Amino acid sequence: MQTLTNELGPSLDLSEEHVMLRDAVRDFAQREIVPVAAEFDESGDFPLETVRKMGEMGLMGIEIPEEYGGAGMDTIAYVLAMIEIAKADASHSTVVSVNNSLVNHGLLKFGTEAQRQQFLVPLASGEKIGAYSLTEPMSGSDAGTMRTRAELNDAGTHYIINGVKSWVTSGPVADTVILFTMTEPEKRHKGITAFVVDAELPGFIRGKKEPKLGIRASATSELIFEDYACPVEHILGEPGLGFKIAMTLLDAGRIGIAAQSVGIAEAAYEASLAYAREREAFGQPIGGFQLIQGKIADMKTRLEAARLLTYNAALAKMRSAETGERYTTAASMAKLFASETAMFITHQAVQIHGGMGYSKEMPVERYFRDAKITEIYEGTSEIQRVVIARSELDLR
Ligand code: CAA
Repeated sequence: MQTLTNELGPSLDLSEEHVMLRDAVRDFAQREIVPVAAEFDESGDFPLETVRKMGEMGLMGIEIPEEYGGAGMDTIAYVLAMIEIAKADASHSTVVSVNNSLVNHGLLKFGTEAQRQQFLVPLASGEKIGAYSLTEPMSGSDAGTMRTRAELNDAGTHYIINGVKSWVTSGPVADTVILFTMTEPEKRHKGITAFVVDAELPGFIRGKKEPKLGIRASATSELIFEDYACPVEHILGEPGLGFKIAMTLLDAGRIGIAAQSVGIAEAAYEASLAYAREREAFGQPIGGFQLIQGKIADMKTRLEAARLLTYNAALAKMRSAETGERYTTAASMAKLFASETAMFITHQAVQIHGGMGYSKEMPVERYFRDAKITEIYEGTSEIQRVVIARSELDLR
């Protein structure tokens, strides 16, 4: 179990650099993202312009060293930026999270120098957009049962990939995809290989775009591979290492989703606080009633607990870079608690706002819809409980 005493001090005071980054992202997100969030939610279009601006600010490669096009910051910085972006709009933060923790992190940790130069530099600098593709129509939580196949050609130069992937965040717009396929099905999860896939090559087909309840501006689609020829040089890691790579990247990804959840929850909480002060009923602001006060107290307490668990997971990941120890449990606990907190707080926020919470004239109903996905993607709450309990009970 990781402790909370750390290089940031026992009270988790942020460094000057962290505060500067958080304030700059907050300013950008409130100025550039908040005004367009409802419009993109309604249309379901991808907000390319603001995503490009986030890239210019270094937000598409926060933890990537500057030599590979990134901002060279740490995981606490990543979490702080994610919270501010998600507070403005969850859809934007989904794009940032996948690009940073599932794709860039994978290329930095497992990629060859040539792969880093070809793929990581444009992704981390925000020129290109990345996606991570594990899920299939018949393989979600049980990720080891995928059917997409990659077979080495006779010349030994390329893997020929065939299959259908689903629920790929940024699938409709991605330039580069970290793709997981079966290369040796008889070996089950030890027969899975990860590839870095270039969306420009023939045989890469973008499938149906998902119509979604929330995070509607983050484009999600199927990806179809029809005799896609992937050069052997584009294997990520080694053949057969794909499942471990997928899980390792999800550990990092789950910290991003925890931070996203904190951001959504904070937006809903602050809106509720303002409304409780302004809205009058029975001759006084509704914040004067103890039933509303009880909600405010529970919302604030859970929000801060979720934030601390998210910082804790970020610190565990930072320590892991030095010790090599896994931070799986810390990431799962943060993701589980923060996502269920986001759902709880947005639910309470709609209730506090009454009819206005149900209206599209205020952002609260969007926060409520956006929060739900955090309990589902990058491992459902049920899967997080499995991961935590297996680790605590020393089970496999
Ligand atoms: N890090 C490194 N290795 C890991 C690991 C981790 N976090 N978790 C498991 N492994 C290793 C194990 O050590 C084991 O290795 P050995 O065989 O060498 O001993 C191997 O992987 C198999 O592990 P398990 O036996 O535990 O595997 P399992 O089949 O029982 O699955 C699971 C475990 C936790 C349920 C896992 O399948 C899982 O996390 N499922 C959820 C998948 C998920 O999150 N999907 C979301 C996809 S992304 C998305 O949402 C869309 C998007 O665009 C964002």
